Amino acid sequence: MKLYFASGNDHKRTEMSRLLGGYELVLPKDEGIEFDPEENGSSYIENAVIKAEALYRIVHAPVLADDSGLSVDALGGRPGIHSARYGDEEAGRKLTTEEKYQLLLRNMEGIEDRKAHFVAALCLILSDERRYIIQETCEGSIATAASGTSGFGYDPIFYIDEAGMISAELPEGEKDRYSHRGKAARLMKLLLDKETGR
Ligand code: IMP
Repeated sequence: MKLYFASGNDHKRTEMSRLLGGYELVLPKDEGIEFDPEENGSSYIENAVIKAEALYRIVHAPVLADDSGLSVDALGGRPGIHSARYGDEEAGRKLTTEEKYQLLLRNMEGIEDRKAHFVAALCLILSDERRYIIQETCEGSIATAASGTSGFGYDPIFYIDEAGMISAELPEGEKDRYSHRGKAARLMKLLLDKETGR
């Protein structure tokens, strides 16, 4: 089954393809579709729905979208839905991934409560009337220093409670067992398998 994936991010496609196993994920850019909807929702779910609906309006075929981020308790849930853009506005340019997690580490200096969680929202649109939303979390805390090289984004500073390790220290496949996206995608796979009679 071909599934349009409402993203421009190849890393996310690789991760999601591995998680869903057996579904061909097509990015809009693969078919020359210009796709950059304004993610102006006020929650992960709203943003996932915005992306899925925007792409569905163009392709009129099954569409999957995701939205995710890192919410830190002591920072009132920030960076949250703004995780991908954290610090950009203040800097007047797009910060690198490393600059973003170093900024978060600085903003957490001297803070004892380091509890945080990743959130992943997935939205699947199969037809005009058939729509599904799944949201999952990965609980953990912000480390005091970066460690590890696998994964992406804030993985080098996120300690996963269940794994007892920093996310970027885990091999790629291993992270899927605990991650927000892994949990949400496994549920989504159940839904897709049912839909396709697998
Ligand atoms: P979006 O879902 O494309 O809006 O971006 C979410 C942002 O949250 C990413 O750019 C990362 O910075 C961060 N993020 C989401 N999931 C993860 C993860 O599994 N590991 C590390 N960072 C993540």
